[in-house]
Amino acid sequence: KPMFTTIPGSDLPYHVKTSSKITVVGVGNVGMACAQTCVTEGLVDELALVDIQADKLRGEMLDLQHAAAFLPRVNIMADSDYAVSEGSDICIVTAGARQREGESRLSLLGRNLSLFKSIIPQLVRYSPDTILLIVSNPVDILTYLSWKISGFPPNRVIGTGTNLDSSRLRFLIADKFDVNAHNVHGYMVGEHGDSSVPLWSTLTIANMPVLSICDKDGVKYSRESLQELHKMVVGGAYEVIKLKGYTSWAIGYSTASLVKSLLRDQRRIHPVSVLAKGFYGIDKDVYLSLPSQLGRAGVLGVASVQMIEEERRKLHESSETIWDIQNQLQI
Ligand code: NAI
Ligand code: LAC
Repeated sequence: KPMFTTIPGSDLPYHVKTSSKITVVGVGNVGMACAQTCVTEGLVDELALVDIQADKLRGEMLDLQHAAAFLPRVNIMADSDYAVSEGSDICIVTAGARQREGESRLSLLGRNLSLFKSIIPQLVRYSPDTILLIVSNPVDILTYLSWKISGFPPNRVIGTGTNLDSSRLRFLIADKFDVNAHNVHGYMVGEHGDSSVPLWSTLTIANMPVLSICDKDGVKYSRESLQELHKMVVGGAYEVIKLKGYTSWAIGYSTASLVKSLLRDQRRIHPVSVLAKGFYGIDKDVYLSLPSQLGRAGVLGVASVQMIEEERRKLHESSETIWDIQNQLQI
């Protein structure tokens, strides 16, 4: 069985530029965490910031420019006119309302739907060859919406999805087993949210299946006890939002890791929100997270990860959750 099923369009020729331009729409907590991390990691030569709040926009630009002596050289621009985004390799969209304490991500759809209908066409107008990387919530549905509005091939419209949830899970497992999170290999798939699905059956620590080893206290984990960790992942964002009002650092690093895989053609596999129709038996046009290979052409392929029946069933339930809401959209 091929390791990957390729995404149509990902084999098309593309122009590889030497310099890189990234646009970030929305200079709030998340947008600036993404921008700062991309600049710090030297991923960008030109950074365009866009927002509707003119003073905040200029303030964030100046504040980041003032760090020039400590950073790789980057030309930072800011404007509420989307012309500033012209020729972007990647457009990261973080604009929109965020959850209030205890609020679900799906409940944000009404507030964020309309602003996406104005943002996406402007990004497409100035960067017709760009990759759209969607962060705003509900990220899976807003990524689907961005795909429909942009008219782009699906390989160039990606949501950050469960790349963040998987990082939270890897942190919790690493903490339990007292190992480095880089040695915890595993994915959460499906909705970036309450119906996300941990793939326990293939989660390993340095190639040791987590279901077959004990932690540092000699505790062996069953599928049931691991469910407690899944609840901590799903509750993680709610807890941080309750404590500090929003989440930003983890999503900033998560997004920068995706930008690196995309811009530097790393061909790494990330659980990100892709057009899932045709994979794992999903037969609807929904975006949700599947382990996908990312490179300069965007999503290059979806990995054929083994799933037990329970995991496949939960993935389908997650896709139905998204479809039920998405199906009511008036696009
Ligand atoms: P924030 O309120 O700090 O920033 C939102 C920014 O969007 C503001 O600067 C606002 O002026 C701007 N904005 C609003 N309408 C706009 C428009 N039409 N055009 C351009 N800019 C516009 O919110 P925060 O904390 O940065 O969260 C932003 C979004 O990111 C929320 O939807 C939140 O749920 C989402 N998020 C997603 C995560 C993920 O894993 N996918 C993780 C964390 C947050
Ligand atoms: C998160 C929410 C805000 O941090 O999407 O996962």
